Amino acid sequence: MLTKVLLILLGMSIILPSRIEGPHVEWEKGPSAPDDDVYGPKPQASEKKLPSEETKPAAIGTQGTLGKLPAATQILNSILNNYDHKLRPGIGEKPTVVTVELSVNTLGPISILDMEYTIDITFYQTWYDERLRYNGSFESFVLSGNMVSQLWIPDTFFRNSKRTQEHMITMPNQMVRIHKDGKVLYTIRMTIDAGCSLHMLKFPMDSHSCPLSFSSFSYPENEMIYKWENFEVEIHENNSWKLFQFDFTGVSNETETISTQAGDFMVMTLFFNVSRHFGFVTFQNYIPSFVTTMVSWVSFWIKKESAPARTSLGVTSVLTMTTLGTFSRRNFPRVSYITTLDFYIAMCFFFCFCALMEFAVLNFLTYSWRIPRASPRLRHPRPRALTRPHARQHQEAFVCEIDDSEESDEEEAPSCPAWQSLSPRSTRRHGGCCRWFKKYLCVVRSCKGSIWQQGRLFIHIYRLDNYSRVVFPVSFFFFNVLYWLVCLNL
Ligand SMILES: *[C@@H]1O[C@H](CO)[C@@H](O)[C@H](O)[C@H]1NC(C)=O
Ligand SMILES: *[C@@H]1O[C@H](CO)[C@@H](O)[C@H](O)[C@H]1NC(C)=O
Ligand SMILES: *[C@@H]1O[C@H](CO)[C@@H](O)[C@H](O)[C@H]1NC(C)=O
Ligand SMILES: *[C@@H]1O[C@H](CO)[C@@H](O)[C@H](O)[C@H]1NC(C)=O
Repeated sequence: MLTKVLLILLGMSIILPSRIEGPHVEWEKGPSAPDDDVYGPKPQASEKKLPSEETKPAAIGTQGTLGKLPAATQILNSILNNYDHKLRPGIGEKPTVVTVELSVNTLGPISILDMEYTIDITFYQTWYDERLRYNGSFESFVLSGNMVSQLWIPDTFFRNSKRTQEHMITMPNQMVRIHKDGKVLYTIRMTIDAGCSLHMLKFPMDSHSCPLSFSSFSYPENEMIYKWENFEVEIHENNSWKLFQFDFTGVSNETETISTQAGDFMVMTLFFNVSRHFGFVTFQNYIPSFVTTMVSWVSFWIKKESAPARTSLGVTSVLTMTTLGTFSRRNFPRVSYITTLDFYIAMCFFFCFCALMEFAVLNFLTYSWRIPRASPRLRHPRPRALTRPHARQHQEAFVCEIDDSEESDEEEAPSCPAWQSLSPRSTRRHGGCCRWFKKYLCVVRSCKGSIWQQGRLFIHIYRLDNYSRVVFPVSFFFFNVLYWLVCLNL
């Protein structure tokens, strides 16, 4: 029994190592005997799992690449062996010419509050590096991800960027392609938050030109030159750009040289032009302001005895305009100038304020000069005959008459101008003011007072509402026509 067990154990110990070492031997044979049969077991093993039709081309493919792999490794090693990635190509001889191309993946959103915008670009830079020339059957090499750091790369930086994000998933989003003739293409994808000073003076009819400028960080103009590759920014516009309120209107380029303490640098700038489509602002600001101003005119059709109605209407419209003015600036940079929208709102506020003031003036001129302590002698009931023309001529007889009758028509309502009813003492007190009023305003029904002269400005106080009903809408209409003509042609 014991011998049988020992024999089985011995047999297992012989079989097991041979099974484990099996692949080892085959792999070790690989380099020494580079025959096709070396790779024999591999396709056979995969044949069991996959249909033969799929494995056959795969097997040929692996043979092809593996056949060239050593050659590729050799070329790469030979060019990188004596390569010094710290030094730029052509150092001491000529400036390195870097050709730039740009592809915009997304543009926006534009943050008005922070005066910046976000742009997601793929940035292409091409230059020639003689040290990377090679001979062989390969047209180009592609190095991805971290391999890039083994080569010299232009130290381009974005001058007006606030934050730059490189994309690292799944591998760093960068790539180098080396061509036979030493031409190197370096591509990197990044998202940049760049500053863009927005001039909001014409808001909401504003259009902006947001720059994206880049230059070398360390190589001045005599060492490194940028060039546009047939300036054409690829725009994938229907590719979910997040411009929201803005329309993209075009892109232009500019090349300039700036002098700093470190030298003269070549700065390339791209301008992304956007213009606002102001539908949003129209619904949020213009229409409410317009309607509020019109509502304030309702006051002119309310009889002037209804002081609470007219006052509350006026005050409400003034307050509404104040609120609208504040709201329009809510999501706005704290600029110190007034924008086009602010001006419109300010004018609407002015119109509402004038409508309220109109009532205040009307009320003051018609009621405040009435003498409540007028003697009963003067307070005799007003005869109906007063409305007759001849009665008007003898108006002096009814000085300081207080009209309490409800049915009296507007023109004749309260009619006790101060200067006619005041006692001599108080006339002296208010003399100057009243004299002035009497000169230019006619508050009495018949303007034939001593100081009143024909041909002077004739403002019939009781008709102030009638005037306002015409003057306010007409002037507002003209203001609007002028405003929109100027704004849309700016
Ligand atoms: C490539 O081959 C050419 C001609 O065969 C030779 O002149 C050149 O030096 C070679 N270049 C490199 C980098 O080996
Ligand atoms: C973009 O729009 C063009 C036409 O305007 C269309 O032909 C193209 O397929 C669109 N591309 C995408 C990615 O939607
Ligand atoms: C963009 O705006 C700039 C500055 O306003 C202007 O010079 C340029 O011509 C504009 N480009 C396009 C394509 O509209
Ligand atoms: C913009 O790029 C084109 C194409 O390279 C070039 O011809 C043009 O001069 C550039 N414009 C500016 C202002 O640099």
